[in-house]
Amino acid sequence: MSADPLAVYPRGSALDDHGHLLLGGCDALELAREHGTPAYVVAEEDLREQARAYRVAFDRYAPGAHVSFASKAFPCTAVLRVLEEEGLGCDVASGGELALALNAGFAPDRIHLHGNAKSEGELQAAVDHGLRQVVVDNGDDVTRLARIAADRGTVQAVSIRVTPDVRGDTHDGISTGQADSKFGLGLDEARATIDRIRGLGSLRLEALHFHVGSQLLELDVFRRAVAAIAPLTDGIAEVNLGGGLGVAYTADEAGRLPTVDEYARVKVSAVRDLIGERVRISDEPGRSLVGRSGVTLYTVETVKRNVSTWVAVDGGMADNLRPMLYGARYEAQIADRFVARGAAGATACRVVGKHCESSDVLVADAELDDPKPGDVLVTPVTGAYGYAMANTYNGVPRPPVVFVSGGRSRVVVRRERIDELWSRDV
Ligand code: LLP
Repeated sequence: MSADPLAVYPRGSALDDHGHLLLGGCDALELAREHGTPAYVVAEEDLREQARAYRVAFDRYAPGAHVSFASKAFPCTAVLRVLEEEGLGCDVASGGELALALNAGFAPDRIHLHGNAKSEGELQAAVDHGLRQVVVDNGDDVTRLARIAADRGTVQAVSIRVTPDVRGDTHDGISTGQADSKFGLGLDEARATIDRIRGLGSLRLEALHFHVGSQLLELDVFRRAVAAIAPLTDGIAEVNLGGGLGVAYTADEAGRLPTVDEYARVKVSAVRDLIGERVRISDEPGRSLVGRSGVTLYTVETVKRNVSTWVAVDGGMADNLRPMLYGARYEAQIADRFVARGAAGATACRVVGKHCESSDVLVADAELDDPKPGDVLVTPVTGAYGYAMANTYNGVPRPPVVFVSGGRSRVVVRRERIDELWSRDV
C-alpha cells in the first residue's frame, strides 16, 4: 500500500479492521446497501473544515475578505446551507443558481450574479432581490442593467469581469483568462466600461473581477492577472480574485498542489504589492471547497477481458462527465479491498460506465483487487462538477446525494425516479 491510501479521500475517512472504507464513520458497503448505487457521498465535516480553512486563510492575510462559494461546483441545497452556515457568500451564474441560493438561505446581500449571457429576467431578479453585486461581463449587461435599475429607482452595485490576457496551467476547456475568451471584457474595453458605468446614475461600480481558469496547479498566474488589472483599479473599492485553485484527484498528485493557505497568501500579497492596501479582497472558489468532500459509490455489474480487463459499473458519464470532457484522471478502489498500485494482488483494469459510448471511461488505469460483480467501487474527489453536470443519458436516473457525519448518513437529494424521465413529456 502506498504511503497513504486515503490521501485524496475526505478528511476523517479510514479503513476499518476488515479493510472496509469508512466515510464520516459510515461503512461504504452499508451506505451502498442502504442508499443504492451510484450515489454521491459527501463528508459533511470535511466540507465544513474546508470552508473554515478558506475563512481562516483569507482572514489571516486579508482580514474581512469576502469569500463566496462558486455554487456551480455543487449546486445543491444541503451543500449551500453548510457553506452559508460557515459564513461564506455565494456566486451564482444563472437565475436558476440564484433561486437555489436564495432558497438555501443565503441573504441577497451575500450573493453576486455572474454570466456571459445574462437574460433580461436574470438581471431583473438580481436588482429586485438587491444582490450584493452584478458582475458585468459585456456592454449589453450595462445597458440593460442601468435601465432596469433606473426603472425601479434604485442603484445597483456592480463589478466588471476583466479578461486579463494571462494563461494558467490547465485544460483548454476550463481556461478563461486568455484575451480571446467568451468571458469578460478585455483590458481596453474594461477601461471604457469603467468610464461608462461611472457616468450612469443607476449603477455603482464597486469591484473588478477576474477568473482565469479552473483546476489551476500553480499560483503564479494569479500574480500575472493582478498585475494586468492593477492599472485599472483607480477608485475601485474591491477586487474579486475568482477562485480557480486545483485539487489533487489521485494519490500521486496529493501534496503537490498549493494549499489553501499558500493560495490565499499569494493572491493577497499580489494585490497588496501591485495595487495596495486600500482595496477589499474577495474570492469565489468552487472546486477546491467541495471537491475532496465527495466520493461516488458504484456497484460493479460485470468484469470481462477483451484485450484489457473491463470493469463496468452502474454509473458513468451521466454522473461524472469530467473524464470525457477534460480527460480528467481519477482513481478507484473496491471499497472493502483497497490495494496499492503495483502490489501482487492488483489487477490493471479500465473502469467504465454503462453508457453507450466508448469514451465512457471513468478510470482508464485503475488497479483493483480481484474485481467481481456486486463489488462496491469508489472513486474519490467527485464533490466538484460531478452532481453539477449530471444528466440522464441512456435513461439513467440521477444519483442521490448522501451526507455522512459521525457514523450517520442522511439523504439530502433523493435519487431521481424512473417516472421522472418522462414527467415533462407532454
Ligand atoms: N468564478 C467564476 C466566474 C467561474 O466561472 C468559476 C468556474 C469559478 C469562479 C470557480 O472556479 P473553481 O474554483 O471551481 O476553479 N466543469 C469544469 C469546471 C468549470 C469551471 C467553470 N467556472 C470541470 O469540471 O473541471
